[in-house]
Amino acid sequence: MTQETTQANVAADVINFGIGQPNFDILPTELIHKAAEHRLSQRDPRYLNYGFEQGDGYLREAMAAFLTPAYGFPVQASQLLLSVGATQAIDMICSAFTQPGDVIFVEEPTFFLILGLFRDHGLQIVPIPLDDEGLDLAVLEEKLAQYQPKLLYTIPTFQNPTSRNLSLERRQKLVALSQKHNFLIVADEVYQLLHYTKTPPPSFATFLDSEQVFSIGSFSKILAPGLRLGWIHTSPKLMKQLLNKGLMASGGGLNHFTSGIVRSVVEQGWQADYLAGLKQIYERRIAILADALEQFLPKNILFQKPGGGYFFWLKLPEEMDGTRLLQTAVSHKVGFQPGIRFSSRNTLNNFIRLSFAFYEEAELVEGAKRLAAALDEYTQL
Ligand SMILES: Cc1ncc(COP(=O)(O)O)c(C=O)c1O
Repeated sequence: MTQETTQANVAADVINFGIGQPNFDILPTELIHKAAEHRLSQRDPRYLNYGFEQGDGYLREAMAAFLTPAYGFPVQASQLLLSVGATQAIDMICSAFTQPGDVIFVEEPTFFLILGLFRDHGLQIVPIPLDDEGLDLAVLEEKLAQYQPKLLYTIPTFQNPTSRNLSLERRQKLVALSQKHNFLIVADEVYQLLHYTKTPPPSFATFLDSEQVFSIGSFSKILAPGLRLGWIHTSPKLMKQLLNKGLMASGGGLNHFTSGIVRSVVEQGWQADYLAGLKQIYERRIAILADALEQFLPKNILFQKPGGGYFFWLKLPEEMDGTRLLQTAVSHKVGFQPGIRFSSRNTLNNFIRLSFAFYEEAELVEGAKRLAAALDEYTQL
């Protein structure tokens, strides 16, 4: 029997659109092999010692050179702190800037797995709804009259689960509100670089001068999640507060050895090439899945074709329940994430999220057919 080594253990005959990770065939095994060989051949003992607190300077320099054209504005190595993925970056921000009982504003819906992290920190979660342009700022202003949040957590670009983008105008207004009401913005931008047909508004890192903003990035979505390598992009003032923590003083830079390998990937230009290939694959998958959903699903299931990211967010008729549909779907060997998981108020029952990252094109078509069959059975129950 094989030992379990990954989060995504699905039976081979099931198509589970619930999995938000790349399929094994597109993971960069050759590239990482080449990069590790390149790094280890240098016999550099520094990667076997404690790392610099903010993260390997060479990798941060290489990232600045990679991110500057990708973001379209200058990125400095000094603005980047390397972390153990976006999740740990957000955990670190919660540790440094919140106390149990503090209020955090989140989007409704939001990335379901992050809600557990905010609960671990004893934070009071207050949801703010989204509309087509992202966070609804009118509701935000109402909530600001009632609460004094420490943090606002947003996924402004190709949001998980809706794939919506927060408009530039709203980004500017949100920063102004954060200054006026003194809360910090945690912009989780792990999908910022995964745009296929639609260029998103610029990263929140354009607003670092406000000293209210953390922009979070990750190699999980552009290279490989197993590397557990991400970053916080922030202003000198907030950077200092993050670095002034026991975790850094005792352990030094986070994920230092892996940073050495990823340094080779970025310095050699392989990251940019790999990302370009990945974007082509995902763009094609979106086109295929959108066509299949149009063809096989009933017309009362509504969705917009995403311009980037990983997700389709499907709206079912009001009376339908995504969790019950999932039970029906089991016998059709198809899965997805019911919308309720993305709600901090246990609503959004009539939505479901599909990810196309884990499946090849033919499987996406087959999955859409199975989903249609499950919907058909559900409506006859
Ligand atoms: C919005 C969002 N943030 C964070 C993560 C996790 O990032 P990491 O692997 O860098 O911890 C994900 C992964 O699905 C995500 O969708």
